[in-house]
Amino acid sequence: MLDPDLKFVFGDSYSDDFFSNGAKYRETLNKEGILIFNSFIGTDGLKALQNEAKELKEYSYKSSSEYNVYISEYDHSFSKNSPRNRIMSTSKKCIPNDLIPKKSILQKIYDSTVVRSFFLDLLNKEKLHPYQDPLSSININYYDQGDALGWHFDNSDYTITLLVKNCTQGGVYEFFNDMRYKEGGEDYDFVEKILDEKVKGTKVDSLEGDLMIFKGNKSIHQVTAVEKGERILVTFNYNETKGISLSEQSRMTFFGRIK
Ligand SMILES: [Fe+2]
Repeated sequence: MLDPDLKFVFGDSYSDDFFSNGAKYRETLNKEGILIFNSFIGTDGLKALQNEAKELKEYSYKSSSEYNVYISEYDHSFSKNSPRNRIMSTSKKCIPNDLIPKKSILQKIYDSTVVRSFFLDLLNKEKLHPYQDPLSSININYYDQGDALGWHFDNSDYTITLLVKNCTQGGVYEFFNDMRYKEGGEDYDFVEKILDEKVKGTKVDSLEGDLMIFKGNKSIHQVTAVEKGERILVTFNYNETKGISLSEQSRMTFFGRIK
């Protein structure tokens, strides 16, 4: 049963019945590479989350990072401008998990056994654990005017995000579904076409309160620069193995500290 505190947070369609039927959406996720649950958070819950995010923003850490789409070391067997090594960049502000109050709705959603078992069924996983380090399990990300998230593949198979606030112009999520590997290897040719803007991906019209789950490891994705307003996106990050911490390098980049 859903915690009574959470009942008022979720949108009308998200009852105990919904949460006990995660497996129902598995096929769609596998086929489309993405699932969007519209108005996952209802009006009251959204107001509370927006207020909380607003109050926390002054404590956020602003980062600018550069990386290649594989988020891996430079490979000297490829040229500098190759899709393997080409530099992408991201700028955003971030609140790490330890600054999110224990009583926060976000923490309750993350810790809820009902919600977690929904994710387990949906993703067909045995276990999902929080990060071992105190910073990385839930993050609130703020994208102000000019902030963007460059093309990349995620490290984890799946990414779970909640759009708390949408900007009024720009800040569009774009992806290419399940395109990463070809004949057992990386498909550099296709990535090059994407980076050279010779092909256009699928653009997602996500609304405030929507929960989005996507295969970020196999589907290259980006968020275009915010042109007007502010975009606030929460990520719920889980691990299949217990005791995993985010790399110290990533923690330094996004949080400015490792603990
Ligand atoms: Fe990502």
